[in-house]
Amino acid sequence: MELEGFVEAGSQEAALLKQIDKDRLPKHVAVIMDGNGRWAGMRRLPRVAGHRAGIESVREIVESSARLGVQVLTLYAFSVENWKRPRSEVRTLMELLKEYLRLELDSLHKNNIRFRAIGRIQELEEPIRKQLYEAMRITEGNSGLLLNVALNYSGRAELVDTFNRLLAEVKQNGHTPSISEELISRFLYTSGIPDPDLLIRTSGEMRISNFLLWQIAYSEIYITPTYWPDFRRKHLLEAVLEYQQRERRYGGI
Ligand code: FPP
Repeated sequence: MELEGFVEAGSQEAALLKQIDKDRLPKHVAVIMDGNGRWAGMRRLPRVAGHRAGIESVREIVESSARLGVQVLTLYAFSVENWKRPRSEVRTLMELLKEYLRLELDSLHKNNIRFRAIGRIQELEEPIRKQLYEAMRITEGNSGLLLNVALNYSGRAELVDTFNRLLAEVKQNGHTPSISEELISRFLYTSGIPDPDLLIRTSGEMRISNFLLWQIAYSEIYITPTYWPDFRRKHLLEAVLEYQQRERRYGGI
């Protein structure tokens, strides 16, 4: 069902939705989900309570993006740098991811959503790796929203992996192609996926944090002070509306 059937008539969400031009939606929305720890701290709760609350936002934003008609949603769930966090926090984040997949996979599949994990997935522990590959396999043929979850991800690591894969292919084929932007894009984790039109970062930090470095060259950046656990459908609609009000020039005039 489209988002119109989901929002309450007369609500702020309905008003926002009415202003959104369905013909000019961002095809690809990428999100740096930040502020879980601060959200918890403000409530004198442990940081992991913030991550748990953040899962509810993940559910709502995935569902809303799919119903709105966004084609690709990429969520930054765990960076290569996040391994520096206390072991118990890392363990909880991995447990939450497993729980998310366990509880949501059926619903993702029923809603025609294709799940993909991007990052150095091969370095993750066997149980989560298995679950990720299984989710990708089950939803592979779906044609609705593509949900990319960036896990053990870093933009620089992605570029290193990209060039190594390119080199391996050169060695195997024995001929050296000339390097072009198009060729590099073809070897990225996001090969075949349009670059993000809109990059959202929650909790107010003005940083890219090693996320999709190649792909965000021309993305519109939207930074909101809202912490990720508070970021819901209304906030997504606000971000899309602001995106539509901007003029994209791609370096032209
Ligand atoms: C940033 O908040 C958030 C993370 C590092 C993890 C985000 C993960 C989830 C919401 C859960 C799993 C995701 C999926 C897709 C199921 P922070 O801890 O850096 O917050 P702070 O900056 O306030 O400390």
